[in-house]
Amino acid sequence: MIILSIETSCDETAISIVSITGKSENPKIKVLSDALRSQAELHSQYGGVFPNLAKREHVKNLPILLSHALKKAGMLKNTKGSIPLSTLKKVETTLEREHGLFSELSLLLQNTKTPRIDAIAVTQGPGLEPALWTGINFAKALGILWDIPVIPVNHMEGHFLSVLLEKKAPIQYPALALLISGGHTELVYSKKPFHYQIVGKTRDDAVGEAYDKVARLLNLPYPGGPHIARLAKEYRSLKKEKMDREVGPLPRPMIHSHDLDFSFSGLKTAVLYEVKGKPISETYAREVAGEFEEAVKDVLIKKTAHAIETHGVKTLVVAGGVAQNSYLKTHLRKLSRTLKITSLFPTKKLSTDNSIMIAIAGYGVIQNSKKTPKNIVAKGNLSF
Ligand code: KG4
Ligand code: ZN
Repeated sequence: MIILSIETSCDETAISIVSITGKSENPKIKVLSDALRSQAELHSQYGGVFPNLAKREHVKNLPILLSHALKKAGMLKNTKGSIPLSTLKKVETTLEREHGLFSELSLLLQNTKTPRIDAIAVTQGPGLEPALWTGINFAKALGILWDIPVIPVNHMEGHFLSVLLEKKAPIQYPALALLISGGHTELVYSKKPFHYQIVGKTRDDAVGEAYDKVARLLNLPYPGGPHIARLAKEYRSLKKEKMDREVGPLPRPMIHSHDLDFSFSGLKTAVLYEVKGKPISETYAREVAGEFEEAVKDVLIKKTAHAIETHGVKTLVVAGGVAQNSYLKTHLRKLSRTLKITSLFPTKKLSTDNSIMIAIAGYGVIQNSKKTPKNIVAKGNLSF
């Protein structure tokens, strides 16, 4: 089947058209088109993502990306027939809250032939509610226009299943996912396909959030993860014996707790006290970044190992923006080799927020549930 998927949970607007067939736990996936616009640069001026600013950008981006996605998939065909007035009225009501989106959309689709799309998958949550609503209303409008079902998708399930595109190996169950992003740090146990149980999570900051906050303390731009990663890498390549060390030992919060929960706010605070009142030279920033990343790595490895052993899993999936980090990746791969299990990582493009993963998860929802949900509501705190 052909799914058009929409992602607007945070600061990325994305629309894909994906052909998916076969078993939902091991599907055959062909991306027909994939259009994405990141707002990261815009938000970087403010050091974080502002929900209403994100919403405004989604409103602006969605019709443009839809047009790109349809065109690239060869589906933007002109026709003489136009949309019936009664349908347009319904669409207008659906898009009442999204100023400007209706006129853009009707302009785009007025003379367009209904594309061969079977369903729309849209992120329902978790995320920023005003941003989620824009995607959901847009999806509902398209659902009315094309008379096809709209499927709500859990963004985190999308991250989990993003590894299915690469298909280095199938996910073998029971599986465990370490989901690490700017908003989440979760260990999710999946006994069988499409059944999830959170077995550990952060009690305060997400790991990506900690990267971003530490980056800010070092005067680095948002999102800070890649900048910290670069400095930490440089630090590791230095000959330490010749260095005057400035940074004291950083804590590894909850590393000895017997549960699978995390805490990163204490580590961020320790960095705050460490850098307070000190001039941030390049050498010093490198050392702080290196020591910070080492602490993060120790905690993630210890908890993930504990979860794998406790639950006897066969596959470790690591996904979310922080899964791009090559140092963490190397150590998580090493861990899975030691414990003789498979580890799967999404491609770089699919690590960060995207709509391809929403199509994959949407296909799973379609294949595994009997009813189409009637009224989709944005859920900022949606969990598994
Ligand atoms: O999944 P994602 O794109 O968006 C959320 O849903 O949050 O993740 C973004 C997060 C940001 O906190 C960013 O700093 C972090 O992922 N990140 C990294 C790296 N690349 C992105 N963190 C550590 N190392 C990286 N290389
Ligand atoms: Zn995400």
